[in-house]
Amino acid sequence: MLSIMQETSKKHFSRGKSVGFVPTMGALHEGHMSLIKRAKSENDTVVVSIFVNPLQFGRNEDFGMYPRDREGDREKLQSWGADILFAPDDAVIYPAGFLTGVEVQELSGRLCGAFRPGHFRGVATVVCKLFNIVRPTSAYFGQKDFQQSVIIRRMAEDLNMGVDVTVCPTMREPDGLAMSSRNAYLSPAERKASTILYRTLTAASEMIRSGAAGAAEVKEMMQASLTSEPLIAEIQYAGIYDPATLLDRDEIGKQNLLAISVKIGGTRLIDNMLAEKLSTPAWRS
Ligand code: PAJ
Repeated sequence: MLSIMQETSKKHFSRGKSVGFVPTMGALHEGHMSLIKRAKSENDTVVVSIFVNPLQFGRNEDFGMYPRDREGDREKLQSWGADILFAPDDAVIYPAGFLTGVEVQELSGRLCGAFRPGHFRGVATVVCKLFNIVRPTSAYFGQKDFQQSVIIRRMAEDLNMGVDVTVCPTMREPDGLAMSSRNAYLSPAERKASTILYRTLTAASEMIRSGAAGAAEVKEMMQASLTSEPLIAEIQYAGIYDPATLLDRDEIGKQNLLAISVKIGGTRLIDNMLAEKLSTPAWRS
């Protein structure tokens, strides 16, 4: 399996064909589809990987119960026009004796990294391996996992991987909930409650755009909004961050990352939005 993938990539490369790559953990939904369609529109060949990466799950996390739907995924990939599916077994990616890891310092410890020690080391390591196996021209990631995309961009640049990293917009359900394989864990009541993330982000974004509020006010509103939902068991973080460094912002900048991580019941949900502060209209100055 590994050698077939490597040979295929080499063949495409030597023929001067561009290869677009979409790494996933399967249980595919329209968020994944949007990345595949984008990759398809920009490349000769599209490779999709499905690999539930044990290295990025903490000991008490959902590796064992993570949704897996190999047949359904295969059908979806075919109908979306993906060319090659790479779905390796654990032992292919992590054979006995495997010792190496990729660590993107500082960025990996912030936001989700503070609650999921080792998670981004696991993500960077597997994406580095997948890039080396698939050798894509471009790789496509979702803004839904904003921190992940920042870390992968940094890694690709720092280690001269020669892979162009494209970040695609978050796909949402009609009521605003960001699509995610983990939404399947939500009970009907939790599913209803989960729209609070989108509603909070939209309200915060509007406050920033209009320039009517300072950072402290926006953060207070976000906390109050999330706290008002009784099914939220824990607010891990909710605030305004620098989109490049992921550091907390005390003052609103030009581009701002609004990001939230909460637990609804036992399910951890994350979402984010970029909010630009509009410059003061001419009539006001
Ligand atoms: P997974 O959660 O399967 O996501 C695969 C890709 O789909 C990621 O780039 C993610 O940001 C993107 N994605 C997920 N939901 C999306 C949505 N609603 N809209 C747009 N894009 C969305 O992220 C991973 O897998 C793994 O960490 C991986 C990168 C494959 C490494 O194991």
